[in-house]
Amino acid sequence: MCERPCAGSVISRRRLLTTLASATATTALDGLAAPAFSRLSQRPIITHGVQSGDVSLDSGMVWARADRPSRMLIEAATTDSFRDIIRSSFMDALPETDFTAKALLEDLPAGQDIFYRLRLQDLASPNAVGEPIVGRFRTAPSDRRSISFVWSGDTAGQGWGIDVSRGGMRTYATMLHNRPDFFVHCGDSIYADCTVPTQQKLPGGAIWRNIVTEEKSRIATTLADYRGNYKYNLLDANVRHFNAEVPIFAQWDNHEVMEDWWPGEAINRQGYGEKSALLLAARGCRAFHEFMPLRYVPAEPGRIYRKVSYGPLLDLFLLDMRSYRGPNGTNPKDHYGPDAHLLGPVQLAWLKRELNRSSATWKVIASDTPLGTIAANAPGARTPLGRGIEIADLLSFMQRARIPNTLWLTADLHYTAAHYFDPANAVFQDFEPFWEFVSGPIHAGTWTPSPLDRTFGPRVVFQSAASREQGDNFAPCFGLQFFGHVAIDGNTETLTVTLKDVADRVLWSTSIEPRVDQGARYLTRR
Ligand SMILES: [Fe+2]
Repeated sequence: MCERPCAGSVISRRRLLTTLASATATTALDGLAAPAFSRLSQRPIITHGVQSGDVSLDSGMVWARADRPSRMLIEAATTDSFRDIIRSSFMDALPETDFTAKALLEDLPAGQDIFYRLRLQDLASPNAVGEPIVGRFRTAPSDRRSISFVWSGDTAGQGWGIDVSRGGMRTYATMLHNRPDFFVHCGDSIYADCTVPTQQKLPGGAIWRNIVTEEKSRIATTLADYRGNYKYNLLDANVRHFNAEVPIFAQWDNHEVMEDWWPGEAINRQGYGEKSALLLAARGCRAFHEFMPLRYVPAEPGRIYRKVSYGPLLDLFLLDMRSYRGPNGTNPKDHYGPDAHLLGPVQLAWLKRELNRSSATWKVIASDTPLGTIAANAPGARTPLGRGIEIADLLSFMQRARIPNTLWLTADLHYTAAHYFDPANAVFQDFEPFWEFVSGPIHAGTWTPSPLDRTFGPRVVFQSAASREQGDNFAPCFGLQFFGHVAIDGNTETLTVTLKDVADRVLWSTSIEPRVDQGARYLTRR
């Protein structure tokens, strides 16, 4: 999705250096030294804050990046005094990973605040140890206590980068204010194919002024470019504060590589010297894994789809609809084959198996692509076509296997919405009704509403988007930036979804009771 263009322009070298210098001054005040300046230091420096992610009942990943070859020293405790260190380990950060390092803290107590302290030891001068940065996360509970999380997507898109005078990427600060247990980033965590220019014109003549970097001044094609996109986002103080306090479950969409790419694509696009999408995807995937604190799967080291067991109330399924899909642009057919792949057969079988095994009350499926934009059914079609065939197969499997209490979360549309999928309104009808909740962008242009495909009968129950007058790519400073909040009550097991904006206003909310027998009961209130 997001077929709408990136804004952006190439900037002059002189302007770049001037702006970067002022950005450095800003970020240094915030306790973060920019890499170019940190090399003057005698001791290694954590260049882009700390992150945690992929927490479980007893573990969590931690992440940092160094300014030189370093050993990341890791300590964990259950209090921020670090009086009793319960775990310690280390991970080396070398140029081969752009000095990023991440490691899994294991054997942690369940449902517990974990404070982690990261510091860097210079591998060339082991006596030189840098200042620590402390972060924290909470492990998943083993009991039925209340939990909450936020989700969104679309960070730094369409040339809307960090304008310090406008508060930077403010939605991250608002999400932090909600104190969620974790954050699901549904993708477009970077916009590799969008440049960030020095400035953009706003309606009415005001100017949006970006922090700019060399890597974000061109579309990404090299590994260094892709890495530079993640480093850019981490220049934002809101993002770093959020990362230090809230663990992330990251999935990717298309812009982590290139607009609407598919694995076998022969690239014939303006600005791209490379001819193979697979080569760009390999670089994009490498940078994604280097800069996101997601786990490593030995069976498929680049894998992004995974299941998160978050205690008795919640299993979270993070999908990857980009890495295994069939070609774009073919006429969608009514029979299944490589041209119709979306998740691909292996991921689809995994998802069915894991949904069937799940004993958690709620099964939340985080999707990088909204279900109403996948199938692209031809007018008058009587069966699912193309990429919709896998979704039809999955939904009918979920009905036959009587898998209760599922819902879908996504971003991608650059507006927020609640979609109720009802077989009574659908071309394909062998499924139980379900909700899909859409939120985003976190920090990107806001779109006007998208048309939804009728294959699975979506009904727009709520939406907040850019108006026709505001148009597509409405700037982030006008308040139409969105995230969603999910709370599961430990006593009643009721799940409440709240759609919010950057000002933390409640736009719409619904509470869903878990199904106790066939047929979920949905209670909707404003
Ligand atoms: Fe996007």
